[in-house]
Amino acid sequence: MVKVHLRKVTRENFRECLNLQVAESQKGLVATTTQSLAEAYVDSNLVPLAVCDIAACGYEQPKMPMIGFTMYEIVAGVGFVMRLLIDSKHQQQGYGRATMIEVIRRLKLCPEVEVIATSYRKENEVAAKLYQSLGFKQWEISYALSHPTEAYVKLEN
Ligand SMILES: CC(C)(COP(=O)(O)OP(=O)(O)OC[C@H]1O[C@@H](n2cnc3c(N)ncnc32)[C@H](O)[C@@H]1OP(=O)(O)O)[C@@H](O)C(=O)NCCC(=O)NCCS
Repeated sequence: MVKVHLRKVTRENFRECLNLQVAESQKGLVATTTQSLAEAYVDSNLVPLAVCDIAACGYEQPKMPMIGFTMYEIVAGVGFVMRLLIDSKHQQQGYGRATMIEVIRRLKLCPEVEVIATSYRKENEVAAKLYQSLGFKQWEISYALSHPTEAYVKLEN
């Protein structure tokens, strides 16, 4: 089974992070890493993480490429996965699912997290299926009403 290693975005690897690209057709589905890192710079609640293959674990400067990016926040009892992207060269190999599994594992370790949730654009069928298969169900939260193009889902235990 594919496994990922999540690591901090640092001065050594941030350029590689900025170069991560999704397919042209996916560009409207997720913010760029440039925007995400800028958001994280001004909001200390946000946790931006580089996605690497598990083989990079243990190496300060791994030789293998960065595969993707994720970012979550913990606010008001909710661990919310704000971003998930896998570089187009590495998609459909299990890394997206493995990243979500690892982020969920981390969020479950945080005592203040009572709900794990995420959102995606309603037309994003790949994300919808992926989250559904991991146990996410529609989340009735009032602020979803002010974002009608976005589907909000939370993990059912
Ligand atoms: C969504 C995304 C992260 C999935 O990453 P990935 O590494 O390709 O996903 P995986 O290889 O783990 O596949 C997960 C499932 O999605 C399916 N899938 C992935 N890409 C697909 C595609 N282009 N078309 C159809 N199905 C696809 C896989 O077959 C797999 O299904 P299965 O578990 O039933 O076999 C990636 O497509 C992406 O970065 N998309 C753009 C950004 C985005 O949409 N982010 C999520 C919402 S913010």
